[in-house]
Amino acid sequence: MIRELLAVIDFGGQYSQLIVRRTRELGVYSELISWRDADRWLASHKPSAIILSGGPLSCLEPGAPTINFDLIQQIPMLGICYGQQLMALKLGGKIEQAHSKEYGFRKIETVDSDITGSLVSDLSSNEVWMSHGDQVMEAPPEFRITASTDSCPIAAFENTSQHLFGVQFHPEVSHTPAGTEILKRFLFEEAGLKGDWSSSGFIEEQIELIRAKVGDKKVLCAVSGGVDSSVLAALLIQAIGDQTVCVFVDTGLLRHNEASQIVQTFRHSFGANLLAIDASNQFLSALKGVTDPETKRKIIGKEFVTVFEEHADEIAECDFLAQGTLYPDVIESGSSTAAKIKTHHNVGGLPDSMKLTVLEPLKWLFKDEVRNVGRQLGLSSEIVDREPFPGPGLAVRIIGEVTKERVEMVQLADWIFRSELKSRNLNHGIWQSYAALLDVKSVGVMGDGRTYQHPIVLRAVQSEDAMTARAVPIEFQHLEAIANRIVNEVPGVNRVFYDLTSKPPATIELE
Ligand code: XMP
Repeated sequence: MIRELLAVIDFGGQYSQLIVRRTRELGVYSELISWRDADRWLASHKPSAIILSGGPLSCLEPGAPTINFDLIQQIPMLGICYGQQLMALKLGGKIEQAHSKEYGFRKIETVDSDITGSLVSDLSSNEVWMSHGDQVMEAPPEFRITASTDSCPIAAFENTSQHLFGVQFHPEVSHTPAGTEILKRFLFEEAGLKGDWSSSGFIEEQIELIRAKVGDKKVLCAVSGGVDSSVLAALLIQAIGDQTVCVFVDTGLLRHNEASQIVQTFRHSFGANLLAIDASNQFLSALKGVTDPETKRKIIGKEFVTVFEEHADEIAECDFLAQGTLYPDVIESGSSTAAKIKTHHNVGGLPDSMKLTVLEPLKWLFKDEVRNVGRQLGLSSEIVDREPFPGPGLAVRIIGEVTKERVEMVQLADWIFRSELKSRNLNHGIWQSYAALLDVKSVGVMGDGRTYQHPIVLRAVQSEDAMTARAVPIEFQHLEAIANRIVNEVPGVNRVFYDLTSKPPATIELE
């Protein structure tokens, strides 16, 4: 199936990924290509349209990011911010190096309101979001200026006969209310795209690809109960049925009843060929006496490998390994990352000696697209809307040593907290909610006696992408009632705290 393809060339702008998400939301399949790889990529791909992203540098600096414009002649193109400046420079216009940067809202005035077919016609007085240093001072020959602001004389320009457009502001951010309209006009009216990207089309296409690649061989799929591995398993089962061998390792570090629910769902709802391994004792003994968070993570990662080695015979028949890699992982693995705060690893680390061919059918999707695919495949809302859960599970929600008793305390407190949020209808718009156990003791009084027990911390956060987060403002009366239930029902707990800290400076998990 030949699908329309929009190439978003990334010049390092902070909103580049957002351009891809926005355009996919509009039904256009887009990929983010680093400017460094763009010439090579363009030599073998013929995108239907191109967007040049913003970027932090100046096009006038020696060695500034650029691409070979000869490779993209005749292709409809929209330059945003740095992308607009680069277009101007490459096509014969002039840009001015900034002495200071401009951030914030500006109102655009369309220069000629009679223009029809312009990306910005009728949008006079609309607010747009500016975040730039340099700016275009002279449009290239045969381009007309279509919008300005009080501080930016060429906020938009275009050459409609060649389908070339540039905007200094950012149409991809929600701070530009008419931004979606501008992107739509570019994609559908100017570039002539139809918007043929949908989750059902994706499923059909992947099913065909998986069948062609796998033939009559078997595919190993490690499942954790999380959204990505569940959608992956459902897709594989749809494509190749029983040739999918699902493996679930119960670490004993999941939420209350979660392990049995996962087994139940996979066996009965999915009809999956599931190998369920109860390794809870093994994980607990490996974690005995360990209190350092990073050491816990390493031990858990290693233990997954050991479990797979121990069950190598049962999975030896597999030639392929399916992994739930998503598009943000693909994008991020290509770029340098910021300082390491925590080692995140996914469940199902496998021994290197297992020579399996990797399949990553979800690697072109963002998380919300994976959820849509899951819905389309018939998965329940409990699965597709499940909150993210860390691979090392409750081990990073138990400060100090992880023991069976402490796991049970957290499981019960967590279950009370989350079921109360649900029954009080407070569970909407929450990114993650959980209970954690602290490694200190404090004095309390219960009945007529003194207690000297542990506190539980409740955490509920709102977030877009886990990079930043804020505490959910739960009303006091609800918190008080939940705290009362926890101290009364969870043995060994005599205090409850609610964590108000945002990320940054805190993180979502306590460890
Ligand atoms: P932090 O705590 O760094 O978490 O703000 C950001 C997101 O990542 C999840 N998380 C993990 N996921 N392995 C994982 O697979 C890990 O070790 C891990 N640590 C944190 C966390 O739940 C949140 O969604």
